[in-house]
Amino acid sequence: MTGPTPYVLSESEVLSRLRSKRGETGYRAMFSSWLGGIITDPALMQIPLDDHLVHRGHGVFDTCTLSDGRLYRLGVHMDRLLHSASLARIEHPWSKEELIQMVADTAGKADIRDGAVRYWLSVGPGGFSPSPQECPEACFYCVIFDPIPLGGAHSDPLTDGISEATVRDTPMKPTLLATIKSNNYLLNVLTHMEAVDRGGTFGILVDDDGYVAESCVLNVVFVTENGTLRTPPFDGILFGTTVRRVMDLASTVLLEEGLVSSVVQSPILASEVSGDLVKEMFLCGGDTHLYPVISWDGTAVGDGQIGPVAERLTELLDGEAFGGAPGDPVDFIDVNYEH
Ligand SMILES: Cc1ncc(COP(=O)(O)O)c(C=O)c1O
Repeated sequence: MTGPTPYVLSESEVLSRLRSKRGETGYRAMFSSWLGGIITDPALMQIPLDDHLVHRGHGVFDTCTLSDGRLYRLGVHMDRLLHSASLARIEHPWSKEELIQMVADTAGKADIRDGAVRYWLSVGPGGFSPSPQECPEACFYCVIFDPIPLGGAHSDPLTDGISEATVRDTPMKPTLLATIKSNNYLLNVLTHMEAVDRGGTFGILVDDDGYVAESCVLNVVFVTENGTLRTPPFDGILFGTTVRRVMDLASTVLLEEGLVSSVVQSPILASEVSGDLVKEMFLCGGDTHLYPVISWDGTAVGDGQIGPVAERLTELLDGEAFGGAPGDPVDFIDVNYEH
């Protein structure tokens, strides 16, 4: 073994090391039901090691977007968190309204008006066995942090588009796991890494029968040559919030503008995309992220350019979340920064 022998750290050494390990994190506020309050020092934003969220993945999470002091689509995300928690058999004492309030209170102490929001519901700390029976108290954690580009994109995806690759060595999740937004994201991470190895970006998962499923943390959408916006059913994939908003906007605004002729959720064979059937393909997630795919496994999608549907949807999603376009009033919750 090289380096100094580890020794037992004092409380003040732990604190000073926690602080020196953290540079500028952009983590603005964290709520921990375990501690019963909000933390604003990033060095102290910690989760207990014996929380089953950490070592068993027995926790679920979700997100939303903080935009100009309002929480965008928190209610929709919270419905999915509660659905995930029930499938993961996490018993907890909170109503949807109470969970929303905890997120809003955390945002109120975050000192930023625009940011990313992530929160977890877990069976809580209690030991290292697989059984949640040893965990006396379910936990809710929430963090508000500066917005970051998904997947570390260094270019503007709407200007450049992305290349994608079919993921062949990383297996798809079984349906139960794929439909829970759980802390078991190892296969999602490996999907992304394999995609990058193959010259892609986020990766496209295709099932054993050849049907397109989803990407590592994004849903997949196509526009066919007859103008149909088509996305796979939610059977064995995540119930994406962004793709549902995309379908809403497509079946109202885009239909009216003549950019699409219909909107359907139906299975799509990957082999259909390599023919002339598909004009546009894009990935979407995280409320406002939309990535036009201009080539897949080295073959151009459509004419290899970013298409008008992807362009218009990006404008609409951004306009709604960030630009003051009306949207649905229930999708916006004002943060109180006063108290
Ligand atoms: C596996 C997977 N599919 C799809 C999505 C897109 O979901 P959303 O639009 O709600 O962000 C995500 C988002 O986290 C995901 O993890």
